[in-house]
Amino acid sequence: MSAKEPTRVLTGITTTGTPHLGNYVGSIRASVRASLQPGVQSFYFLADYHALIKCDEPARIQRSTLEIAASWLAAGLDPERVTFYRQSDIPEIPELTWFLTCVTGKGLLNRAHAYKAMLDKNAAAGAEADNDVSAGLFMYPVLMGADILMFKAHKVPVGRDQIQHIEMARDMAASFNHLYGQLLVAPEALIDDNVALLPGLDGRKMSKSYDNTIALFGPREQLKKQIMSIVTDSRAPGEPKSTDGSALYQIYRAFADDAEAAAFAQAFADGIAWGDAKQRLFERIDAEIGPMRERYQHLIAHPEEVEQLLLRGAEKARAIATPFMRELRHAVGLRPLQAAAQAGQAPAAIKTEVRASFKQYREQDGRFYFKLVDATGQVLLQSRGFDSPREAGQAVKRLQTDGAAALDALGAQLDLPGGASPALRDALQMLQTAQQT
Ligand code: TRP
Repeated sequence: MSAKEPTRVLTGITTTGTPHLGNYVGSIRASVRASLQPGVQSFYFLADYHALIKCDEPARIQRSTLEIAASWLAAGLDPERVTFYRQSDIPEIPELTWFLTCVTGKGLLNRAHAYKAMLDKNAAAGAEADNDVSAGLFMYPVLMGADILMFKAHKVPVGRDQIQHIEMARDMAASFNHLYGQLLVAPEALIDDNVALLPGLDGRKMSKSYDNTIALFGPREQLKKQIMSIVTDSRAPGEPKSTDGSALYQIYRAFADDAEAAAFAQAFADGIAWGDAKQRLFERIDAEIGPMRERYQHLIAHPEEVEQLLLRGAEKARAIATPFMRELRHAVGLRPLQAAAQAGQAPAAIKTEVRASFKQYREQDGRFYFKLVDATGQVLLQSRGFDSPREAGQAVKRLQTDGAAALDALGAQLDLPGGASPALRDALQMLQTAQQT
């Protein structure tokens, strides 16, 4: 990685369920903030292929995709700044999943925690080992590997339960690269231990499975009602209260700055009534969430806007995925039959060989020319004569960095009577990607 290359950070959100306050504090808020940092290039996607592993209700998948997308957008994710897309809009991902499937040992997947938990559960129930285990559940880590490796992500922010999946993605990248050349980038898990684990209404960790959640963007009245139902002890107004182990205090802490938290702790010591403490908590949360709720409600009422944003995100994502997948297909041998066979060559040599390359030269007329030649020796592009090698070099540079977009700009300097062929566009796109990576 060169010094000026941005760090690519990628996160997927499985589209089951509706975001709650715990998701907001534990992941959404921190991710949105992280995406605003300079020097990072962020990818956020809705992991709806993953959702199919857990959920077979089409309406729920669709609804959850909308709610999660709207939540992230309402919380400030800027789709202009980040690449925000839906996994199932990127057909290259299932294709890469297959490539990875073929280089991943079954034994590696046997060790996945989620799969092993199912085996244990079945053993405890005296059932068949693989009872209720779909091949999708078993393959979950490979699909996740494809998500990550497709975009050459350097860092993947995840919870501790997902670290194993990132390690598996590294293994897959290493196996693939060993066989086919240095094409995939090994990711690293990014664990933020400062992120608050929010307690739920009953004091246990806020989780859908405990049914103790506070909805993130429910109506304001619902937020208030849910906060009023947080379990507290029976201390009466005027009695000093402890912040230790108080779910109410911990939730407040997750929204407050240090001074506000200290004031709230003082109020506890001074014997604030629980009802008043809850009111203060409600107001504090609503101050942060309220403005976002309006945007959320607007987006939920206008799913076509969300759809539009996601499709635009998919275009951005595929501008990377499509050429990269082409490169990977070529590397594994899924390529035009006339392409030079490379069996026995070092993988590194193959990699450069699959790309077209520019050749610069001087003609009898004393002028300077270049051409773009593909791996089979076919000329894809021929320039007209330039007065100096520098000018020819600049045009080449432009094509390398801007790809097919430079064709129009260079116009008359190129000899393209029939317009740009698909093969030329493809080759330029691949070179452009190579420049960026
Ligand atoms: N497995 C992740 C979760 O349950 C979701 C996910 C799917 C993901 N693909 C990913 C996260 C790729 C990070 C990177 O939380």
